[in-house]
Amino acid sequence: MSHRDDPQRPARRSGAADSSAVSLTRREFFKGTGASGVSAAAALALVAGEAKSAAADGTPEQIHLTWGEDPSSCVIVSWASPGQSINARVEMRHASSRSRTVHAIQRTYTDGLNGQTVFTYHARLEGLQPNSTFHYQVTADNDRHRDRPFTAAFQSAPRGRVPFRWTSYGDLATPVTSWTLSSPQSRYAVQAVERFAPLFHLLNGDLCYANLNPAAQPAVWADFGNNVQVSAAHRPWMPCPGNHEIEFGNGAQGFDSYLTRYSLPHNGTAFPGLWYRFQVGSALFISLSADDVIYQDSGAFVAGPEPLRPAPSTGHAPIEPGVSLYIHGYSAGAQTRWLEETLRAAAADDSIDWIIVQMHQDALSSSKTGNGSDKGIREAWLPLFDRYGVDLVLCGHDHDYERSWPVRGCNRDVGRDAATGAPIDTCQPNPIFTKAPMDGSYDTSRGTIHLILGGGGTSVPVDVYGADPATGLPQAKVITKPNRPFLSAVADTFTKSGADALEDAIWSARRDAESGYGVAVFDLDPGIPRGKTSITVRYYHASGADRVPTADYTLFESFVLSKNRR
Ligand SMILES: [Fe+2]
Ligand SMILES: [Fe+2]
Repeated sequence: MSHRDDPQRPARRSGAADSSAVSLTRREFFKGTGASGVSAAAALALVAGEAKSAAADGTPEQIHLTWGEDPSSCVIVSWASPGQSINARVEMRHASSRSRTVHAIQRTYTDGLNGQTVFTYHARLEGLQPNSTFHYQVTADNDRHRDRPFTAAFQSAPRGRVPFRWTSYGDLATPVTSWTLSSPQSRYAVQAVERFAPLFHLLNGDLCYANLNPAAQPAVWADFGNNVQVSAAHRPWMPCPGNHEIEFGNGAQGFDSYLTRYSLPHNGTAFPGLWYRFQVGSALFISLSADDVIYQDSGAFVAGPEPLRPAPSTGHAPIEPGVSLYIHGYSAGAQTRWLEETLRAAAADDSIDWIIVQMHQDALSSSKTGNGSDKGIREAWLPLFDRYGVDLVLCGHDHDYERSWPVRGCNRDVGRDAATGAPIDTCQPNPIFTKAPMDGSYDTSRGTIHLILGGGGTSVPVDVYGADPATGLPQAKVITKPNRPFLSAVADTFTKSGADALEDAIWSARRDAESGYGVAVFDLDPGIPRGKTSITVRYYHASGADRVPTADYTLFESFVLSKNRR
């Protein structure tokens, strides 16, 4: 649904950084963020005023961690500053070693719509001991708080077959409600991750919806970054790009804002940062950019009737009504080739028991008010997931919760055209069973489970699910072809159609109609040699948040994945 919001809606304030946080200790920092949504938002607005009046200096803000190629030995500290930093650096310390200084590299871009230049910094902390705690400070010569720089600590990943926890959701937005699709729930969602204290968090795309606030994209990113810092300065947050990271004027695919802010593991292709892999313990995590293969057109879009006019300083021409940034096929197969090579190597690697995939859009969604399922993913990637035994796929995009049965293969020609009822091939995924196993644990070596975790913190939940009117059984909308903009009945205004097909959602196992918000918590148990290994999944939802944002996350369901250890 979100992509149908008017991308030209003007921003009502120029957001700025919650830069007060950077000078606080971790203890003070957490105390400060325990406030209720309303008062915390008010504080943010005040601080924003302060930051706006301050000089554009090198004070660090939007501080966040990501894993390097090997999470047991490399973590990257990234941040932004209002102006250019001088001698941007991280001072780090481990209990058993002397402190050391790691200088950051600068990456900048100039927003293609409002002409603002964004300064970001990335310090690569390498040669870390596994499973160890590191304290660090972020500062620069022109840091307003250099007498008391931002300080935090993180844990490097363990090595070998060891237990660990991660968490996940997508579609977070910001707590600054004047931005399109933002909600106070976004602040509670970040706090929820801290409460579960995972080793790391997977953020499944649609980070902040800056492209729905085109006049102020960098300010929306800043509000997002400062909200996320509450957790992401203490544990890596690993993102994948979603359709709302696709921005006019910011690179060939519109991902320059995203790619400038995040330092992610190299993939060895011409598209660094858009897809990557990393291994923690016995689990391989693969992060994908599904806009490359989906049929949906849901990136930046000018609905009209007025063109979108970039600031004169950008030198960019107005973008006419009806123009959308549709990037289907942008890697010309490079991503899918990389995925197959990565999966083939994983299948031959005895240190890997589990393969977890993260992407934004959904191959299996029966949301009625959201986007639905996309046949593009079913065609391009589900056969690879089958061939190489992917256990779990974590998505967002539809702002709800849905769990599939384990699926393998697909049934052909069982869908129908949404308008005419004519038969249509939706590649309906085939569940290997449709009852919960007697022992309560799912053997994912037999089929892949898809989870939609789109309930980060936007203002638009879509937890209304499709049902066949005749049988009452779950029914899914499926997008089987591009839905490019067309002229609507309103003069000079363009629109896009929704999903073009329907199918019986025989693969749908559980849907949460009570709340469109939640966080999934995964606990991996490596098991013992010649025994079973398992992942216990607990999904906590924010009951009532569809009506009133709440900090209260309660258990909705839990289930176990279990398989023979290699
Ligand atoms: Fe979204
Ligand atoms: Fe999305």
